[in-house]
This record gives sequence, structure tokens and C-alpha cells, in this order.
Amino acid sequence: MLYKMLQFILLATVAAAAAINGPSVSPVLSRQTANLPDTFEWSSSGVLVSAKDDGRNISGIKDPSIIYHNNAYHVFASTAQAAGYSLVYFTFTDFAQANNATFHYLDQSAIGTGYRAAPEVFFFEPHNLWYLVYQNGNAAYSTNTDITDPTAWTAPTDFYSGTPDTVTANIGDGYWVDMWVICDATNCHLFSSDDNGHLYRSQTALSSFPANMSEPVIALSDTNKYALFEASNVYAYGPEQYLLLVEAFGSDGNRYFRSWNASAIEGPWTGLADTEADPFARSSNVVFADEVAWTESISHGEVVRTVVDQRLSISPCGLRYLYQGVNPNATESYDSLPWTLGLLTQTNSAC
Ligand SMILES: *[C@@H]1O[C@H](CO)[C@@H](O)[C@H](O)[C@H]1NC(C)=O
Ligand SMILES: *[C@@H]1O[C@H](CO)[C@@H](O)[C@H](O)[C@H]1NC(C)=O
Ligand SMILES: *[C@@H]1O[C@H](CO)[C@@H](O)[C@H](O)[C@H]1NC(C)=O
Ligand SMILES: *[C@@H]1O[C@H](CO)[C@@H](O)[C@H](O)[C@H]1NC(C)=O
Ligand SMILES: *[C@@H]1O[C@H](CO)[C@@H](O)[C@H](O)[C@H]1NC(C)=O
Repeated sequence: MLYKMLQFILLATVAAAAAINGPSVSPVLSRQTANLPDTFEWSSSGVLVSAKDDGRNISGIKDPSIIYHNNAYHVFASTAQAAGYSLVYFTFTDFAQANNATFHYLDQSAIGTGYRAAPEVFFFEPHNLWYLVYQNGNAAYSTNTDITDPTAWTAPTDFYSGTPDTVTANIGDGYWVDMWVICDATNCHLFSSDDNGHLYRSQTALSSFPANMSEPVIALSDTNKYALFEASNVYAYGPEQYLLLVEAFGSDGNRYFRSWNASAIEGPWTGLADTEADPFARSSNVVFADEVAWTESISHGEVVRTVVDQRLSISPCGLRYLYQGVNPNATESYDSLPWTLGLLTQTNSAC
């Protein structure tokens, strides 16, 4: 990670514009009775959002986090280029307009330059604040009263005093990545991955958040690190159920998502659609309009959320998933790959 941080000192600067909007209060969690299916089918859009020719020389737009709030979609994503990773925010009212949205680079806020990647945005009701959680070598957060003001994010604060011992003991030659916070009625939980077959979970009391994250426990593991790699999402659905998604490498070398569910964020996690033959989302259960799919990887992203709170509640009906994909013919090195965003729409929703 250190080399990436050093590379970031070279990042250029571009002014970001701000819009002013007040924070809003989230709707009460609706008590869904519908269940998730145990098999998924999707259709995919074409490329929706790609890097712009705006002087930043960015290669890829990755790792989107998305929420619909005040009649607009708000997306936070990683920008990737050989020089390193940073964060971007953009907003639009209709997916057909998404690629026209102005990019606001968050290194222009107090988040600053340097290695920051894989954001997750959510509204934390007890503080009446938006939180942006991301990786910076540690797990970090920034806050903002106004999701539409990209200049107003606070400087990064780390969740941990350093890499937790449990991660150090298990990470092997992996990377500690993809932090994800979700709260229930009493605790907030911080998930992360190590590209080495381990999903970690820490917790702190809701009343203490964001302080005092515990030493992580291993929430899920796999002896095949490629089967439990990174990019986890955890959501609440139904009366008291949770959906876990983790990105894996398929036998064809392409990324896809596996899924589990549980009746508590602590687990235990039960396989829902968790195999390559029965995946949550993979090229094999996604239909593309074009004869040749623009991507064979269904990689890091998240469910389009419409409920604004720290419970991360989603409806189990008619899921949409904003993801990163890449032309399979791309030959650039990993950090310079031209990742772009696309949208999956569930086609087998029973409700
Ligand atoms: C832009 O990125 C490419 C690699 O994607 C690199 O070869 C080139 O040197 C970069 N240009 C600048 C001006 O940084
Ligand atoms: C993007 O904006 C330009 C200029 O306003 C417009 O011509 C174009 O149709 C827009 N594209 C989309 C996809 O909305
Ligand atoms: C964090 O834990 C310490 C030690 O138990 C305690 O003194 C402190 O009040 C806690 N902070 C919060 C915000 O709960
Ligand atoms: C997981 O989802 C399946 C399929 O909807 C359901 O039958 C099962 O009860 C769920 N398990 C938990 C723990 O929520
Ligand atoms: C990748 O290259 C092959 C062979 O040239 C071509 O047929 C295919 O359309 C390309 N795929 C994409 C997504 O561009």
C-alpha cells in the first residue's frame, strides 16, 4: 500500500463545483414480507459511465457506491490510473444521463490527495450526517451534512490505530481492502476483505460509532482465496434478514458475485446463490443487449439503495446493481485498465 500512497503525491488538481442542499431524514424501515430468490437473473445496460477526457488522465471509474435521495442518484466511485487511486462524486436524475454528469474529484475537499479508494456512502441518522467510508491503507471515514456538496467532506479519520492483528495474521500476500459499514438497532459493523480468502467484521455500539471499532473477527473464509476475494456488500431486507455479497474470480478468470443471507449481521451466513453455477451475478446469468457483451466481469459495485439510513435497507424485489466492468480485450496493466460502470436490473423478481 505504501508505494501507492507515495505515487499519489503526484496527483494533479482540478477545481470542484458545489451544490447546496440540506440533509434529509430517512423514511422508516418498511417491514417487507417478501423474500429473496435463491437464484438470480439479470439484464445489463451498456456502458453507462466512463472516465472523462478532462485533464485528469484517469483510466478507470471503479467501485461505485450509490444512493437515490431527493430525486437524484448520488454516486461515489474510485478513480484509477497508473499514478494511483482517488475518489470522485457525481449525480444525475436518470441513468440515461449518467455519463453526462460532471465529475467532482474529492481530493479537492479536505479528504485530500493520496491513496483513497472503494467508497461507501450512507446517512447516519443519530448524527444527521452523511458518512463516506473508504480505504486509505487503513479504513477511514469522512463526513458531510450535504451529500451534494463535494467540497465539504471532512479530512480522513482512521477507524483503527493500525492494521488489526487479526488481519496481519491472516492476510498472507493479500491487500486489506473494501471497507463496508452497516448498522443494526444496537451496533455498527465494519466489514473488510484481504484478497486472501477472509472477510473480516468489527463492531462498535451504535452510540459509540464511529469510535471504538473492535478487533475484527473472521466473518467468512475460504481456503481458495479467489472464491472469497473482496468488494463485500451487506444489506438489510425483510423484517430482520441480511444479504451478503462478496466478489470472486471465476474459473474463466473473470469477476463475479456470490451471495449469502443471515438473520443477524454477526451471521452465521448461509449460502443463497453462492456458486459459480448458481451465482448472485456473473456473465452466465446476465443478459446483454449487444451480441458481444461489453464486459465478462461483473465486478465491485453495489445495490441501488433508495432508503437513506445506516441500516442499509433494500427491498428484496426488483434489485438493481451498479457494477464495474471492462472490455475483455483490454491489455493495460491492472491500475490502468479502462473500467467503466454498468447497471444490472433483476429480471426474475417474484415481487
Ligand atoms: C496518462 O496515463 C497513461 C497510462 O494510462 C500514461 O502512459 C501517461 O504517461 C499519462 N499521462 C500523464 C500526462 O500523466
Ligand atoms: C449530454 O449533454 C450534451 C450537451 O448538453 C447533449 O447534447 C447530449 O445529448 C447529452 N447526452 C446524454 C446521454 O444525455
Ligand atoms: C471508547 O472506549 C473507551 C474505553 O472503553 C471509552 O472510554 C470511550 O468513552 C469510548 N468512546 C465512545 C465514543 O464510546
Ligand atoms: C435466506 O433466503 C432464503 C431464500 O429466500 C430463505 O428461504 C431463508 O429463510 C433465508 N435465510 C435467512 C437466515 O434469512
Ligand atoms: C474482443 O476481440 C474480439 C476479437 O477481435 C472481438 O470479436 C470482440 O468483439 C471484442 N470484444 C469486445 C467487447 O470488444
